[in-house]
Amino acid sequence: MHRELLEILQNYNTKIIMNLKELLHKNELTKEEIIFLLNLIDKEDQQRLFNRADEVRSFYCGDEVHLRGIIDFSNYCEQNCLYCGLREDNYKLTRYRMMPDEIIETARVISNLGIFTIVLQSGEDYYFDTDLIAYIIYQIKQKANVAITLSLGERGFDEYRAWKFAGADRYLLKHETANPKLYSIYHKKQKLEDRLSHLRFLRTVGYQIGSGNMIGIPMQTVEDIADDILLCKELDLDMAAFGPFIPSPHTPYQNKKPGNVELTLRTMAVARIVLKKVHIPATTALATLDEEGRIKGLNAGANIVMPDLTPSPYREQYLIYPDRKCINDNPLSCKSCLQLQIESIGRKISNSRGDSIKQKDRLTV
Ligand code: 5AD
Ligand code: SF4
Repeated sequence: MHRELLEILQNYNTKIIMNLKELLHKNELTKEEIIFLLNLIDKEDQQRLFNRADEVRSFYCGDEVHLRGIIDFSNYCEQNCLYCGLREDNYKLTRYRMMPDEIIETARVISNLGIFTIVLQSGEDYYFDTDLIAYIIYQIKQKANVAITLSLGERGFDEYRAWKFAGADRYLLKHETANPKLYSIYHKKQKLEDRLSHLRFLRTVGYQIGSGNMIGIPMQTVEDIADDILLCKELDLDMAAFGPFIPSPHTPYQNKKPGNVELTLRTMAVARIVLKKVHIPATTALATLDEEGRIKGLNAGANIVMPDLTPSPYREQYLIYPDRKCINDNPLSCKSCLQLQIESIGRKISNSRGDSIKQKDRLTV
């Protein structure tokens, strides 16, 4: 940011500093106010921000934490995102695909643990074509009473429609950054406007939609993060995820710095205050950078945890970034561990699917 602009902002900031409490209770925040909150570094001010986010979370979402069980069923990817360990040009990665019946059986095991959302996640892997994904969705729905979230990257509009018809409920497609210039640097073959049109299409065909960004990816500024939050608002998301960037070996960004944990927490908190009725996860990336990351996230506006329940030996090879938290746990011990953590802060694991908080509003409009 330019020095002059910084000075103007700092002067502006001292004016709002007096009124932090008032600011945190405003119904709508401007971009400048969001930037101001994202820049809070004083520990007490930061705590006030987290407390307010926690209050807003409790008001709109209640105290239950929803678990989403992730099955990373293929680490093949035809994209080359500069930050990601699954990028096609990473020849060092051992690739795998789970077979359809193995995926369906894993989903059944997860639902038997009392986890009512299955996230089917992969790189952009066209081996899993329209019909194969539809078959997997349909079979899971026959065998388990769960919601299904797809996280398969940018696919065809006809495919989205077919998978909705087969029973899918939600689609997760991160916008990664609201800055079109940065977007085209990170994704040489893709454009931000296309990603946004995919998200809008997914909403029109009836999916609950999730998106979000990474905090601390190279060249990102705090203004970009403010724009990310405002974009999430404009998209009227059902779920918004903000996780720190973690440098991944054998990628162009392998020597870059990881995202900052506190800035990630402030982003989640501000997003909660701005977006209100939305699901926000305490991400695995946050838990990877900080032992207490999940708890800190749940205390700063989050109401979702997404454990990776991919069976071994695949799980160890889904290396978007290294040292992913809980990479060696089995599903049962993973759930009990999460339960202990969640109950230690006076919250409890939900027994419902945790559909969109906005769904009722949408049905009555
Ligand atoms: N650090 C953190 N998150 C990452 N993702 C991809 N690479 C990284 C990384 N190095 C996230 C992106 C993507 C999802 C599959 O994982 O947000 O959407
Ligand atoms: Fe593939 Fe997604 Fe990784 Fe990009 S972020 S390389 S699309 S898995």
